[in-house]
Amino acid sequence: MGFIKHIPGTNPIITPPRDPRSLGLGVVGLHEGRTLLLAMNRTASIHPVAGCDLNPEKVQACRAELPGLFYTSDYQQMLARPDVQVVAIYTPDSLHADHIVAAFDAGKDVICTKPLVNSLGDARRVLDAGRRTGRRLMVGQSTRFFEPFRRQRAAYERGELGTVELLDAHYIHRMDWYYQKSPWVAKETDWVFLGLSHPLDLLCWYLGPIRSVQAMSVRSELAARFETRGPDVYIVNAVSQTGRLGRAMGHYGCHELPTARNCIELMLYGSRSTSLAQYHDMRYVYAAPDGTEVTEDHLYAGRHYYFNSEVHGMHYGEFANYAEAFARSILDGTPNSPDLEEGVRTFCVMDAVRRSAVEGRQVEVQDITCS
Ligand SMILES: NC(=O)c1ccc[n+]([C@@H]2O[C@H](COP(=O)([O-])OP(=O)(O)OC[C@H]3O[C@@H](n4cnc5c(N)ncnc54)[C@H](O)[C@@H]3O)[C@@H](O)[C@H]2O)c1
Repeated sequence: MGFIKHIPGTNPIITPPRDPRSLGLGVVGLHEGRTLLLAMNRTASIHPVAGCDLNPEKVQACRAELPGLFYTSDYQQMLARPDVQVVAIYTPDSLHADHIVAAFDAGKDVICTKPLVNSLGDARRVLDAGRRTGRRLMVGQSTRFFEPFRRQRAAYERGELGTVELLDAHYIHRMDWYYQKSPWVAKETDWVFLGLSHPLDLLCWYLGPIRSVQAMSVRSELAARFETRGPDVYIVNAVSQTGRLGRAMGHYGCHELPTARNCIELMLYGSRSTSLAQYHDMRYVYAAPDGTEVTEDHLYAGRHYYFNSEVHGMHYGEFANYAEAFARSILDGTPNSPDLEEGVRTFCVMDAVRRSAVEGRQVEVQDITCS
């Protein structure tokens, strides 16, 4: 027998008291980056100071909601401000490396949305700049910071799952709206770095260093219509250096999903238990030690915090959670995850997946953080 635990709570967001050492945040790229600025009423250790975008309409929309901040279209002007200690980057993927290196050189610590970078040359560049300047970086892997995935990870760290022997992760989402909103998505990158970065990051998080991958990809009817640069359907099999197995799947041209499935799911098959975390539905499902199946439903408790009271609004809670975690780790002098080296290692897995799909063979992962 199983049961559903509705986690109670309908409160709107309660803003925590600000830590007197709270760090000032400047955000570049005010479409997705606007979400982070608005989510700053959830954090204690980091607060909004500045926003930057080339597009005056994006600046105007942010200014209307957060009038007290400094706004500019000139990234260097934002970097020159001493009250900006952390820079968060939400520009198109191919610009991340330039924006990270400039921020490091200006003495700032950096939050960079996923994917950290989308080419090997850029991965080497950000790694070198981080090592040269000693600045810190957090990759904004939002899925890790969504409530069911946090619950699942905490149970894993308490040892309740035992060893994860097999992992199954996917992110599936119809993306015509994204091609229309942001044409660079179709023309300048590959879905292995965009959507597939979510399940591949989850795979690396649990299985540790990945030895090799075998990937297949095709282009959907929708991707062909938008003339995307690469394929938009991927299946990946991976083996870790310790011999454990994982699978990641992505499809960005499909029809809508039936409600039984969620667009992001992580299924862990451990030696002691199994568990499933889901996004958008805020469900965490697991087998308890006595064999009972438990479904934790966090929607009522978490919808204001995570969705900003909208119907499945995007990422407010996750962005606040990783920004707060990063600021705390800077203030306390403790490690953060995923940091620059971890982000580059995950990029190396993504790049191996891309090569494997193109070359039609199993590919060894080349970890450039070791060379
Ligand atoms: N789950 C997640 O964490 C998540 C979700 C969606 C998007 N993203 C990532 O966020 C990033 C942005 O995605 P988006 O959907 O907001 O893209 P977008 O195209 O809607 O917005 C990018 C913004 O950057 C601005 N910009 C471009 N170059 C600039 C420059 N040199 N200086 C200042 N502003 C500049 C543009 O004017 C635009 O407003 C991408 O890397 C994407 O992969 C992450």
